[in-house]
Amino acid sequence: MIRFTLNGAAVAHPGGMSLLHALRGDFLLNGPRFGCGAEACGACHVLLEGRSVPACTLPVEAVAGRAVTTLEGLGTRAAPHPLQRAFLEEQAGQCGFCLSGIIVTAAAFLRENPTPDEEALRVALEGHLCRCGSHNRILRAILRAAREMRA
Ligand code: FES
Ligand code: FES
Repeated sequence: MIRFTLNGAAVAHPGGMSLLHALRGDFLLNGPRFGCGAEACGACHVLLEGRSVPACTLPVEAVAGRAVTTLEGLGTRAAPHPLQRAFLEEQAGQCGFCLSGIIVTAAAFLRENPTPDEEALRVALEGHLCRCGSHNRILRAILRAAREMRA
């Protein structure tokens, strides 16, 4: 059994598959999405010890003893993370397929860069594709959340 921390709780998994498949199929966390399966789209990203990483190619075995946080672990409906609130307020997204990965990457980024400029944010999000073309709203939402988190 592979033991690790998932959204703050101790969990165990038999392994033998990617972290993304375990999260979606066995832990029923549908935030992280399967896009390309090849680290090329960003849809599957989760936080591993606070760093945003693709879960599609990461074996469950690689997270043994470590802390994994998915979109679901960032906030709740009653107490959403400022990013989750800002994405709703800016209506940042169309289909939403890319947003879970983008939000966890933005959360990691803002922890390191609480006062980002748009250029730094664009670089940080480069690995995240949005087929709906919502990039401008997404950037607005993240900058809004950064302002709120500083206030
Ligand atoms: S599904 Fe993992 S990067 Fe595309
Ligand atoms: S909102 Fe549809 S892929 Fe980004």
